[in-house]
Amino acid sequence: MADALQRELTDAGVRFVASFDLDGAAADLAQSEGVKGAENVEGAEGDEAAENGQSANAAASALATQASEADVVFVGFWCDKGSCSPAVQHFLQGLAGKRVFLFGTCGFGESDEYFAQILERVRAYLPVDARFIGGAMCQGKMGMGVKRRYEGMLEKDPENAQARMLIDNWNKAQSHPNEDDVSRIAAAAKEALEGIAE
Ligand SMILES: Cc1cc2nc3c(=O)[nH]c(=O)nc-3n(C[C@H](O)[C@H](O)[C@H](O)COP(=O)(O)O)c2cc1C
Repeated sequence: MADALQRELTDAGVRFVASFDLDGAAADLAQSEGVKGAENVEGAEGDEAAENGQSANAAASALATQASEADVVFVGFWCDKGSCSPAVQHFLQGLAGKRVFLFGTCGFGESDEYFAQILERVRAYLPVDARFIGGAMCQGKMGMGVKRRYEGMLEKDPENAQARMLIDNWNKAQSHPNEDDVSRIAAAAKEALEGIAE
């Protein structure tokens, strides 16, 4: 999504001063500081997760300083338990005084209200003097383990309508993000940029 959005905005005349993969860069930096298993920050548990998380968070803050060159910072995230990952949270917290556009993917794609709730939660990590200029979300793929869990629910209770709905949603998610998602998010980003140009 991030690459496709950057292409669309570059075509529309936006110049990018820097772009980076926050999860990847945070993990690389943390690893270069000698933290074992830092590449798996989201999945780690216990003390190791706390250490990895701290290094990734420090790295995210360092990247936020780099982003301070930009007029507008576009921050992409994947939905992690209704919000964004800790590395993204820390990156957002470092964006004092910046104009920020948020774009994200989440597994559940059936509801604009759900998208809006996630955006509200994520934008709350911005410092008070940052300006949220807009945001948009779309559905993204989920892991096979998630589908197996839903299938397990259905095996136990074949009448479970919730499990059926979740399996349908998982199947739909496989084709996202698609071209329409990219166009919709790019249109929202362009509108946000026009809003600040006025
Ligand atoms: C640990 C974890 C937590 C997640 N929490 C949520 C959630 O609360 N709501 C949701 O809709 N999707 C959730 N997802 C699904 C991811 O948001 C989805 O897989 C991701 O947005 C796909 O991104 P991609 O298309 O960029 O790969 C979660 C996934 C993981 C691994």
